[in-house]
Amino acid sequence: MQVSDNIENLKPYVPGKPIEETKREYGLQKVFKLASNENPLGPSEKVLAAIQKASLEIHRYPDAGFYDLRQAFAKEFAVEPLEISFGNGSNELIDLLIRLYCKDGDKILTLQSAFIAYQISAQAAGVETDFVSLKPETLKIDVEDLIKAWKPEHKIVFLPNPNNPTGTYLNQKEMEKVIHFFGGRDDVVLVFDEAYVEYADAADYVSALRYRAQYENLVVLRTLSKAYGLAGLRVGAVFADKKVINYLDRIRNPFNVNSLAQAAALAALGDKDYLAKAVKMNSEGKQYFYKEFESAGISYWPSQANFVLFDCKTNAAEVVEDLLKKGVIVRPVANYKMPNYIRLSIGTEEENQKAIKEIKEILGSK
Ligand SMILES: Cc1ncc(COP(=O)(O)O)c(C=O)c1O
Repeated sequence: MQVSDNIENLKPYVPGKPIEETKREYGLQKVFKLASNENPLGPSEKVLAAIQKASLEIHRYPDAGFYDLRQAFAKEFAVEPLEISFGNGSNELIDLLIRLYCKDGDKILTLQSAFIAYQISAQAAGVETDFVSLKPETLKIDVEDLIKAWKPEHKIVFLPNPNNPTGTYLNQKEMEKVIHFFGGRDDVVLVFDEAYVEYADAADYVSALRYRAQYENLVVLRTLSKAYGLAGLRVGAVFADKKVINYLDRIRNPFNVNSLAQAAALAALGDKDYLAKAVKMNSEGKQYFYKEFESAGISYWPSQANFVLFDCKTNAAEVVEDLLKKGVIVRPVANYKMPNYIRLSIGTEEENQKAIKEIKEILGSK
């Protein structure tokens, strides 16, 4: 049977190349993956213990109401338990928000070179995506351009902050301008996707959570895939008005976050040492990349996340391929309309040193 054109033409999300596949394809013993913005620390001991304990109950369905998780997140982020819900990764929450607010023929608005899942989820739902261009010198939008670009058919505005794959961010002043314009309207939902919030260290970066309670149409997404180290378990969190959470809870699969993931998320939230260690390691890795890029004359964009985008000044596809041959997996971003750039996730010291050594060698010989 025929499927709709939007599905027929949908290009699936391309994840970072898996380590085992790279080993097989290139005949390598050791491979370093710096392609998916994962946490290089490995899992938290506390999380592993919580999973082991929860595994004794896997013959039971998970808690569809997220009682423990809601209590813990509410306390941690000073919101009410019914102002939070959870998804199978924040990716699922993006999908659910589009299902909730957009009908076939509606549109969403986001930035050019924003995390690609918004566009994919929208297209799957028969919803078009419009983009606001980034300024080439800063890889940021001008918020006035965003405000001018918005039309009533844009039912959701998705703003990743910090953004993937650029690592750039909207500062407090810019964010307040956006919130002031969109906040409180009943014809659009404003979503701040804060997947990398824990890494953001700029003095003028603020989380949209501080404005959340003031506006019924303001939604904030978080994930446990990055600084909390749970990418493989798939847990995302959504903070929104109770009414919005209630609708999301109606349309989500009741058991969308499995019991091991729920137990792990609870333990991860409580493991402050792990989080602090992950953030410190990231900050040191980032400074190392900056220093090395500068000494090699490679242009990069300062990042508020756990990756750095750099300019190969040549087609990055070839550089990515050369790096794969050396056992380093990085992320090309041609699908974000940036054919000469590479996104390099920050890894362990060993991973970072290996990546820099190979990048310098390859770019030096071009
Ligand atoms: C900006 C942004 N939002 C959301 C996600 C999805 O995260 P997850 O589905 O693992 O929670 C990512 C993943 O890379 C991301 O970069």
